[in-house]
Amino acid sequence: MRLVLFGPPGAGKGTQAKRLEELLKVPQLSTGDMLRAAKREGTELGKTAAEYMDAGKLVPDEVVVGLIEQRIQQPDCADGFMLDGFPRTIPQADALDAMLDKAGQKIEHVVSIEVPDDNIVQRLSNRRSCPACGAVYHLVHVPPAVDNTCDKCGHVGLDQRDDDQPDAIRVRLKAFHDQTSPLKALYDERGILHRVDGTSSPEEVFARIQGALGAGA
Ligand code: AP5
Repeated sequence: MRLVLFGPPGAGKGTQAKRLEELLKVPQLSTGDMLRAAKREGTELGKTAAEYMDAGKLVPDEVVVGLIEQRIQQPDCADGFMLDGFPRTIPQADALDAMLDKAGQKIEHVVSIEVPDDNIVQRLSNRRSCPACGAVYHLVHVPPAVDNTCDKCGHVGLDQRDDDQPDAIRVRLKAFHDQTSPLKALYDERGILHRVDGTSSPEEVFARIQGALGAGA
């Protein structure tokens, strides 16, 4: 299955992608994770991306298109993949269509996780993640069992993302509404858009996504 997880910053795309990876047996391809890895490694690409990401702005299309083009050619993507945070602009969606066309493939489902802006600010300011294994927590809704300690790998010390600050969150939401949300109409016209209410618990949202995809547990 080839699908796109779509939604505003903090909608829960990453949270649901981890669950869907196990259910659907396809890899999660997160451009945000790829860019943050490049930033940590201090590569030229990472340094360029950091200037945009820390301010909450979108990284230039050619940078992320290049990353995805290389990634979907890897063997683990042969039977499908799940895009998380890509495409985010009309030119990115066009580039994705072109690269899939060449291989005789297409996106089959786009799951739009819908969460109002007010919830987003609350979610992102309380997000913490494990720098060792990448597990994501929410201080109120998805807290670790032991304060400041990762449940999955035991690492002590959970991080807050540089772009989860109020000013950057506002810029990210504006970028979503101005540049990304128009993609919904494009996928709706193709009959592959599933709108899912993302405001309840992660478990309930997951059940809704399974229902939308017709994928059993
Ligand atoms: P990216 O990493 O893709 O960030 P994002 O889209 O802003 O999304 P987030 O990762 O912030 O949120 P999420 O939807 O995954 O939510 P999560 O599951 O973590 O991109 C970062 C930056 O990279 C961009 O701003 C841009 O600069 C650049 N970039 C990336 N891709 C790009 C592209 N294609 N083009 C150009 N630039 C690009 O959940 C959030 C919080 O809520 C967590 O604390 C979680 O525990 C909690 N939570 C999740 N679900 C629930 C629930 N149901 N109820 C309560 N809490 C919940």
